[in-house]
Amino acid sequence: MKVAVLGAAGGIGQALSLLLKTQLPAGSELSLYDVAPVVPGVAVDLSHIPTDVAVKGFGKDALADALSGCDVVLIPAGVPRKPGMDRSDLFNINAGIVKNLIEACADNCPNACIGVITNPVNTTVAIAAETLKAKGVYDKNKLFGVTTLDVIRSETFVAELKGKSTSDVHVPVIGGHSGTTILPLLSQVEGVSFTDDEIASLTKRIQNAGTEVVEAKAGGGSATLSMGQAAARFCLSLVKALQGESVTEYTYVQVDGSDDAAFFAHPVRLGKNGVEEILPYGTLSAFEENAKNEMLEGLRGDIKLGVEFVNG
Ligand code: NAD
Ligand code: LMR
Repeated sequence: MKVAVLGAAGGIGQALSLLLKTQLPAGSELSLYDVAPVVPGVAVDLSHIPTDVAVKGFGKDALADALSGCDVVLIPAGVPRKPGMDRSDLFNINAGIVKNLIEACADNCPNACIGVITNPVNTTVAIAAETLKAKGVYDKNKLFGVTTLDVIRSETFVAELKGKSTSDVHVPVIGGHSGTTILPLLSQVEGVSFTDDEIASLTKRIQNAGTEVVEAKAGGGSATLSMGQAAARFCLSLVKALQGESVTEYTYVQVDGSDDAAFFAHPVRLGKNGVEEILPYGTLSAFEENAKNEMLEGLRGDIKLGVEFVNG
């Protein structure tokens, strides 16, 4: 497996690359690309860790080489939020970054699975899809918005509240990755029950968890370490699936024939070709159904913005 991280010198990029260096299967290659001049140094630094994963760094003029032959590309390139900003405030800078990087993926590794981390994810995934379509290489089964951070946060917060081990707690999270579009399905968590007040406050905390980190970092950026962990979990699942295991993860994908939105995080069975099956998210409680109906228009608008960015 050859995995590329685009934006590898950043906060997420470095944490993610460290986890992949230590956890990808032996024989894998890790390709680290960034426009920041420190990226070859990040690669040299990681290369001193004794695992059977080869690491190479690629500077700003070597994107084609970084991508050539890749099976998986993860994209955390772009600017993060500062206090007072919404994820949508990142659109002006990050939309163009994602479009350029996706064009390079289309040219150099058109069959790779691509995981978009750059915010606003609700929109940047639509930008990626339209860019790949314009290049004639779009495969909806190979494009993912990485929403795993919402899942791991939910598991942490529920375990904390209910005094459980995090390994025993599984929380489905559907929808998008911004504010109320993040919809944890607490009614489906097995082995615990919640009061109405707990459901309301936990849902709000999960939806605002990104902002919680942005405010705590006080201008120094957004979640990087927990996001590195989340993206590593997603990537390792994807790699297992590409190697023949069947694995299920929640991720933001194109969903055809749904009344929700063109892209929506669902439980997805991954396999050798990326998405093998988009699984239904099951029955929602009245609270969740209402929350879903209230956020759909916003999510559809976020997606439309991405489609229009590419197609005018
Ligand atoms: P950061 O500023 O620490 O790192 C970003 C890196 O991207 C930098 O090293 C920068 O040089 C690089 N970069 C910028 N333009 C580039 C380009 N054209 N090609 C390659 N590299 C480029 O930021 P971060 O904290 O790592 O966050 C990165 C992005 O991830 C932000 O948009 C943030 O909002 C998003 N994010 C998403 C999630 C999620 O759940 N999906 C979670 C946290 C952060
Ligand atoms: C997160 O959920 O932590 C990320 O999307 C970063 C952010 O801006 O909140």
